[in-house]
Amino acid sequence: MSKRIFPHGFVWGAATSAYQIEGAWDQDGKGESIWDRFAHTPGKVLNGDTGDVAADHYHRWPEDIALMQQIGLKAYRFSIAWTRILPEGCGRVNPAGLDFYERLVDGLLAAGITPYPTLFHWDLPQALEDEGGWSNRKTAYAFAEFTDAISRRLGDRIRDWTTHNEVTCASLLGYQLGIHAPGICDWYTALRAAHHLLLSHGLAVQALRANCPKADVGFVIDPIPAEPASDAPQDYAAYRWFDGHHNRWFLDPLYGREYPADVVSEHIRRGHLPKGLDFLQAGDYDLISQPLDYLGLNYYRRGVLRAGSEDLINNIAPTANPPEGFTETGWEIYPQGLFYLLLQVWLTYRPRQIYITENGASFSDAPDENGRVRDERRIAYLHGHLAAAHRAIEAGVPLKGYFVWSFMDNFEWAMGYSQRFGLVWVDYASGRRLLKDSALWYRQVIEANAIPD
Ligand code: NOJ
Repeated sequence: MSKRIFPHGFVWGAATSAYQIEGAWDQDGKGESIWDRFAHTPGKVLNGDTGDVAADHYHRWPEDIALMQQIGLKAYRFSIAWTRILPEGCGRVNPAGLDFYERLVDGLLAAGITPYPTLFHWDLPQALEDEGGWSNRKTAYAFAEFTDAISRRLGDRIRDWTTHNEVTCASLLGYQLGIHAPGICDWYTALRAAHHLLLSHGLAVQALRANCPKADVGFVIDPIPAEPASDAPQDYAAYRWFDGHHNRWFLDPLYGREYPADVVSEHIRRGHLPKGLDFLQAGDYDLISQPLDYLGLNYYRRGVLRAGSEDLINNIAPTANPPEGFTETGWEIYPQGLFYLLLQVWLTYRPRQIYITENGASFSDAPDENGRVRDERRIAYLHGHLAAAHRAIEAGVPLKGYFVWSFMDNFEWAMGYSQRFGLVWVDYASGRRLLKDSALWYRQVIEANAIPD
């Protein structure tokens, strides 16, 4: 059998985030986050689901590490709940929160699995939201305080730190579309939030460089490779606008450019920036664009833009039947998009190293009568995307690793538990876990450092 071999030392991992798996939402001194508040508000999450218990990883983490070992994971990407460390967002530190992540990290290291923590995966302390959340510049400084506290404690053991996960979603889904916490629908607030998220990244990089001089520090983002649906000028304009406000708006300042002038003008024309970029202060661009060791890309789908598809998530799928179909989230399966994204980001911004920090699919295959989860569609999805990643490496992209989303089934935000992305099946009623066929397939890939042709 011929196969495609990955570079020596390629980092094979899987990812999760705190609110989506931990549960224990109010235990051991944890403060309330905006996702606790949002999910407890009727009508916000499908079926009224919450992350109160989730996959109960907070109590079952030793079992989860054992499963990671069975899969042969080299690395595990997870996030740290700010409200466990600083329950009110700033000020008082909760030692039990630090202890939890210390146990987890020590457990991973003892199992030979490299920890890749992310500091912010959307669960902002509610106490900070009460003061405006990310639309308040002070939140950026609170984030630096949180980063300082956790990196002082774990900086001697962790090399790879990510500041943020998908600031695009945190700002635009949370403050403009309002379908995620905190559920605000206002463009200007969202653009302020986006700026302070970027600023907080810069401040956190400073804290990490000070506390862990040998760290590799990165940023995770989800640019959606976009294209116009047709040659019509209106579709082209829709594409430019989407690519502008969703992709370039975040990546340009991160890599030493300013906010893209064409997008600023369009935001002004649409009335989103009544006072221009009044939240931008002298020195902000320098803070935001400090050199990074890596860029993490989360990829799920492309965007095919047609006139009228102004917002983020509606109408970006092709209208005709795409050749590879859709996942159960309704997202088009389009592996080539990953190749284009890697090439485009690398050629435009020249990050030193790139990771695919998330890629995966929602398919709800359940255990059969023999207790086996035959999730062939997930295997096909992963295979297709890994082939695209391999092609990008051959084209010269400095791709260092790949993380499946997700290590295990979990709480899929506004869609609750209706979507299963895991390599590991979770029975939410009992907490029981089971490796799916895709986990066994991934184990072979990791062992061979290669995918079959
Ligand atoms: C991106 C997010 O980082 C993650 O939290 C989410 O579950 C997956 N994509 C799937 O939507």
